[in-house]
Amino acid sequence: MRWISPTAVVAAALAAAACELERSPEQRTATDELALAERRFDPVAFDTVVWASQEAAVERGRDIYSWVCADCHGPEGHGDGGRVIDGDTIRPEPLQRADWQRDWSPEDLHRKVFIGNELGMPHWGLRLMRPRDIVALEHYIRLELARGDVAEVDGEES
Ligand code: HEC
Repeated sequence: MRWISPTAVVAAALAAAACELERSPEQRTATDELALAERRFDPVAFDTVVWASQEAAVERGRDIYSWVCADCHGPEGHGDGGRVIDGDTIRPEPLQRADWQRDWSPEDLHRKVFIGNELGMPHWGLRLMRPRDIVALEHYIRLELARGDVAEVDGEES
């Protein structure tokens, strides 16, 4: 019988345990990804973010939105981005649909962007988007993107 070093046995056991805890990105299923994003979400990391001004945060949020969110959510948040048109992902509801003051707190929005879901909203927290940038996006969506059109939509309905 071949002799196996105890160190190798311990190393293999440790590797197996580590695997259980955190699989490499290629091995993770969609459910693992969601669970991992949920575990990594820490509301405190958002509480400590400070922007010099609201305008600065909105401006940064506008830039990030156009780089990474508009692909699916569309340039104005109507859910008509290129990837939706190409059939890569389901069509998200227009971001104007929500009443951000009533239905969504800033923390809800941080959580949504960081954690994502299994329906096609990516887990931005796992893609290393910083809390600071997620706060900027939250400002942009609530204060600018969704606002302009709310009045318009209300007007059409009445
Ligand atoms: C790959 C496509 C894709 C990208 C890129 C993407 N999203 Fe989404 N997002 C979705 C889909 C699909 C949904 C709807 C899933 C559902 O029905 O829960 C969604 C849902 C949301 C919602 C919830 C809206 C609601 O009313 O329920 C918010 C907020 C949101 N995304 C913000 C963002 C932000 C901010 C970014 C950029 C950092 C972003 N998304 C990038 C696909 C995407």
